Amino acid sequence: MDPMTQEFKPQRHVPVLPDEVVQGLEPLDGCVVADLTLGGGGHAELLAKRVGPSGRLIGIDCDAEQLERAGTRLAGLPVELIHARFDQAGEIFRSRSLQADRVLADLGFCSEQLDDPDRGLAFRHEGIADMRLDRTRGEPAHRLLDRLDERELARILWEYGEEKQSRRIARKIVEARHERLPWTTTRLANIVRSCLPPRFVTGRIDPATRSFQGLRIAVNDELGVLESMLKQLSGMVKPGGVAAIISFHSLEDRLVKREFARTEIWERINRKPIEASEAESAANPRSRSARLRVARRLL
Ligand SMILES: C[S@@+](CC[C@H](N)C(=O)[O-])C[C@H]1O[C@@H](n2cnc3c(N)ncnc32)[C@H](O)[C@@H]1O
Repeated sequence: MDPMTQEFKPQRHVPVLPDEVVQGLEPLDGCVVADLTLGGGGHAELLAKRVGPSGRLIGIDCDAEQLERAGTRLAGLPVELIHARFDQAGEIFRSRSLQADRVLADLGFCSEQLDDPDRGLAFRHEGIADMRLDRTRGEPAHRLLDRLDERELARILWEYGEEKQSRRIARKIVEARHERLPWTTTRLANIVRSCLPPRFVTGRIDPATRSFQGLRIAVNDELGVLESMLKQLSGMVKPGGVAAIISFHSLEDRLVKREFARTEIWERINRKPIEASEAESAANPRSRSARLRVARRLL
């Protein structure tokens, strides 16, 4: 996108499962609520309004731009915002001798991030494939596309993207390095599509989606960071307190399910994940893949 001719105007992120999150967490007057994935502050606003002036919401996000956006939205509410990754939250809480009554994590990324061409997260928006949620650290996707060997690329596409044609795509990516062209989202998506048999290229979901998901998970080490946060989670929640986690693909949901199945620590409030209603799915397509799990920390 030419910044001289087109200004990036993000669409405001619509929080998924808002009623279900509020109902599951039941934030009461005076509660300390931690939102580990503050994003645009949509859920945080709903929760902070319910804890009253004697309560507090601590909002964490690894993306400084999101914190700024949320800060504007939450002005006047009892909130404290922290720029950190959620796997650092355990340490932050410990250093302040803090435990929360309620903890929320709404995994993944926001519409504002997805729609920002500079982030290169989506093939719908032409930009260099960066894909980092926190642009102050880590290796962007275009570097991985230049650096990783074919086997490792194929593993990422297969394991994190569940892409059946992972080997073929990885080979094509390695071959395409000779062209010495920038790794834009459009170029990458076209390479992926060119590797798939025509019957895979039709249908509702763009076939490049899986590869983009795989690369994004690898770039942000999403599963490693989630696993580490889940290990710290029970320490962040007061006994009797509640944690709610929303995931967007089975790889994440599996880890959350496994943590909440530790019945010596958690009482599951819902056995099956809560999904969006038909009305919400129609109004907010992002909610279609959302899975909410809620559990109470045993006393
Ligand atoms: C789905 S959005 C959250 C939306 C938010 N619930 C709302 O209603 O506006 C996910 C947010 O989590 C942040 N995020 C993703 N992984 C993170 C991590 N490991 N640590 C901290 N923040 C993370 C992203 O930057 C993004 O802003």
